[in-house]
Amino acid sequence: MNREQHTIELPAEQLAYMERVASLLSESYVVPPKACVTTYGCQQNVSDSERIQGMLVKMGYVLTDNMDEADFILYNTCAVRGHAEDRVWGNIGTIKNKKQKRPGLIAAVCGCMAQQESVAERIRRSYPYIDLVFGTHVLWRLPEFLYRRLSGGGRIFELSMEENRIVESLPVHRDGTLKGWLPIMYGCNNFCTYCIVPYVRGRERSREPDRILAEAEEMIAAGIKEITLLGQNVNSYGLDASFDLNFAGLLRRLNAFPGDFRIRFMTSHPKDCTLELLDAMRDCDKVCKHLHLPVQSGSDRILKLMNRRYTREDYLALVAAARERMPEITLTSDIIVGFPGETYEDFLQTLDLIREVEYSSLFTFIYSPREGTPAARMSDPISRAEKGRWFQQLLKAQEEISERLNQAMIGHTYQVLCDDTGRAPGYVAGHTSGNIVLEFPGVPQDIGSYFNVTVQELTNALYGAVIK
Ligand code: SAH
Ligand code: SF4
Ligand code: F3S
Repeated sequence: MNREQHTIELPAEQLAYMERVASLLSESYVVPPKACVTTYGCQQNVSDSERIQGMLVKMGYVLTDNMDEADFILYNTCAVRGHAEDRVWGNIGTIKNKKQKRPGLIAAVCGCMAQQESVAERIRRSYPYIDLVFGTHVLWRLPEFLYRRLSGGGRIFELSMEENRIVESLPVHRDGTLKGWLPIMYGCNNFCTYCIVPYVRGRERSREPDRILAEAEEMIAAGIKEITLLGQNVNSYGLDASFDLNFAGLLRRLNAFPGDFRIRFMTSHPKDCTLELLDAMRDCDKVCKHLHLPVQSGSDRILKLMNRRYTREDYLALVAAARERMPEITLTSDIIVGFPGETYEDFLQTLDLIREVEYSSLFTFIYSPREGTPAARMSDPISRAEKGRWFQQLLKAQEEISERLNQAMIGHTYQVLCDDTGRAPGYVAGHTSGNIVLEFPGVPQDIGSYFNVTVQELTNALYGAVIK
C-alpha cells in the first residue's frame, strides 16, 4: 500500500471547530482563558504537546505554567514505565479540588497512557471530573473535543487508532527559540518484548521529505540553532514509504541548507544503524558527532529475550565503525537492569560492555513490567532489592567512566552552542557537538552564539575559557 496517500492536511472541519471554540471562549471570558499543558515522557510527547499548544493558542487560550490559574488543564502522558504512570495518577487526582475552586475548568488526559483501554476505563469509573480522554492517534481532533464539551456535551473518550495516517499542517507553538524538535516519523515496528510503545503509538510511518524539509526551513528562519530529528527508530526512516529517501539521505538534504545550525537525532536502533548512515554523519558538518545508540543489555541471551535483533558483537562492531569514521564521536545509551530472567552473570556482561564502549553518559532503568507486553508474562525471580543493588553498581561504574572521559577533555578545545546561564554568576553554559556541557565566563547575551572553549578544569562541572 502506498502510505503516502495517508498523509492528510488538518481537516477543514477541525479549523471550523477552532473558530467555534474561539467564539465560545470570547463570549464566556472577559480576559482570555488560560491553558496549562503538562508533558511526561519522551521528546515525541514534547513535540506532540507543541502541536497541542499551537491549537490551543489558535483557539484563543493563553499558555501558562501555573495550573492554579488555568481554565484548561491537559496532561500529555507516558506509559513506558510504571513510575511514569504513577505520577500521572497522583496528579490527576488533584483536579477534583481544582474544579471545586474554579468552576468551568476543563481537564484532559491524552498521550501514550491514555491510549490504553484499561487507563481510559479507570478514568471513566474513578475520575469523573476528567472531561476529555484521547489517544495519541487523534490529538489533531482536540478542537472538536473541546467544542463538544464546552457547548454542553458529555465526557469524551476517544481512543481510535487511525493506523498509517499522518495529519499535517497543525499549528505549532514551540517551547524553545534556540532548540527545536522535528518529528520525522511516528510509531514503532520493533516490538522489543518489554516495551509498550508499539502498542500505544502504532506502526511506523514516515513524514514526507518535503514536509520535514519545509518545517526545518521554517525553524532555521525563526532562528533555531539546533534541530533534533525525532522518531522511535530514525534509522528506519522512509522504509515504510513509497518515496525514495532513507535517513542517511535525509541528513544530507538537511545538511545542505544554509545557516549556522546544528542537527541532532534520536533514537537510533542498532539493528538498523548502517555504515551509510555513519558515512553521512561523518560527511555532514552540521550533524553533531554524538550517537545515542541504546544497547539495553550486554548479554546476548538477554538481547534475544528482549527481541533486539542484534548481538553484543554486532553492537561493538558498529561502535568501532562509528569511531573509525569519527574519532571524536561521543556515545550514549539506554540500559535496562533486571529484565525477566536476567542473572547476575548477564548483568556483569552489561557492566563489561559499558566499560568497553565508554559512554559519555547513560540513561538507566530498572525493568518495569508493562501489561500486554510479552516480557510481562516471563518469569521474573530476582527481587526488586537485588535489582536495586545491580542498578547502583551500574551507576557507580558509569560515574567512573564519565569522570575519566571528562578529565581527558581538559586542555582540548571544543565548539559549543551557548544555550543557558551557568551555575555560578558570570558564567554561561553550552553543549559541545558531542553533547557535553561546558561552563565558561560569559553574559546572558551570549546565549544563541557559538564559542570555541578550551576546557580547563573539572570540579562540579567542566569549566573552560573562550578562545578568541
Ligand atoms: N525507541 C527508543 C526508546 C524508547 S523508550 C529505542 O528503541 O531506543 C526509552 C527507553 O526506555 C528504552 O530505550 C528502554 O531502555 C526504556 N524502557 C522501555 N520500556 C521499558 C520497561 N518496560 N522497563 C524499563 N525500561 C524500559
Ligand atoms: Fe520500544 Fe523497542 Fe520500539 Fe524502542 S525500538 S520504542 S524500545 S519497541
Ligand atoms: Fe513514553 Fe510514549 Fe514516549 S510511552 S517514552 S511518551 S512514546
